[in-house]
Amino acid sequence: MSRGSLVLQVARQLRSLWRNLQAHWDDAWQFAWASGLLSDREATARAAHVLKTAHRLDKGLALPNPRPGFGSDAARLLSQQLERHFELSGPDWVWREGQEALIRNAQHAAGVPPSGLSVPMSARRVRDSARGRFPELVRARRSIRQFAPGPLPNGCLQRAAELASLSPSVCNRSGARVWIATDPEQRRQVLALQDGHQGFGDQASAVAVITVDMSVFHTVGERHQAWVDGGLFAMTFIYALHHEGLGTCCLNWCVTPKTDREFKQSMGLPSRETVVMLVAVGCLAEQFTVAHSPRRPLSEVLRNLEKTA
Ligand SMILES: Cc1cc2nc3c(=O)[nH]c(=O)nc-3n(C[C@H](O)[C@H](O)[C@H](O)COP(=O)(O)O)c2cc1C
Repeated sequence: MSRGSLVLQVARQLRSLWRNLQAHWDDAWQFAWASGLLSDREATARAAHVLKTAHRLDKGLALPNPRPGFGSDAARLLSQQLERHFELSGPDWVWREGQEALIRNAQHAAGVPPSGLSVPMSARRVRDSARGRFPELVRARRSIRQFAPGPLPNGCLQRAAELASLSPSVCNRSGARVWIATDPEQRRQVLALQDGHQGFGDQASAVAVITVDMSVFHTVGERHQAWVDGGLFAMTFIYALHHEGLGTCCLNWCVTPKTDREFKQSMGLPSRETVVMLVAVGCLAEQFTVAHSPRRPLSEVLRNLEKTA
């Protein structure tokens, strides 16, 4: 390579590096400004706090053996959040859902069994719906936090991974990967740094780690693409397992860069792969319950774009 083209190449690399830093800096500002990181002035940020705390309570009731009296801290926090929410937003659906969760928590504290306070499900309903029409399949998929023991059916993870690999990806880059742990000690190690599987993760028969190989992206504009492609891949993987009559629960990978590095090193994951989420996979019990997980009304989700001049 001539000296001139080498200089040109280094200049291009430095420009890409600079643009990448600028993009991350902009992302950081955009996130700080638009998210609830610094303030909950926005109604949606306040609502998110209420929904998150209510979910903590409802999720506890959908665990196999909820600790008696669990959730008293969360219930106190939720009461405060609801009071503030009521003052600023009035008795909207978020406020009502929060109140319902508080009532369920109080009923549990008063001795009502958790099975009466979460949503009843059966393996049969999931199996029948999962083989039915698409709306039924979607409605019957729920996050499962009560697994039955036992190995997964032969080949189910391979079949699900094969279907997931048919998910769309930007320019068909196909960067998503899924790493499976079935051995109990390996599952324990995978979950050790994850916050959100407590009370049920150890019952899953497998834990999947969904990653995306970042080396398939090469422009600054693609810096968030891993999460989009990885999310689409994960959804297909989850529906495929649901179609097999199995239970899954997405597990967040909301960790600091330090934890992320530690995890990847300890699991031997390639450093070019970014972890998108984990998925607990297990067998369904004949009868079980799932958490109340209220959704936003369609009027808040489906919007028409305003015509611009
Ligand atoms: C990316 C992602 C991460 C999640 N992480 C957790 C988790 O760590 N622990 C957990 O119990 N549920 C987790 N969930 C499940 C959500 O709580 C659940 O999807 C939501 O409450 C809706 O309930 P449903 O899946 O039963 O419809 C996660 C979901 C997603 C999409």
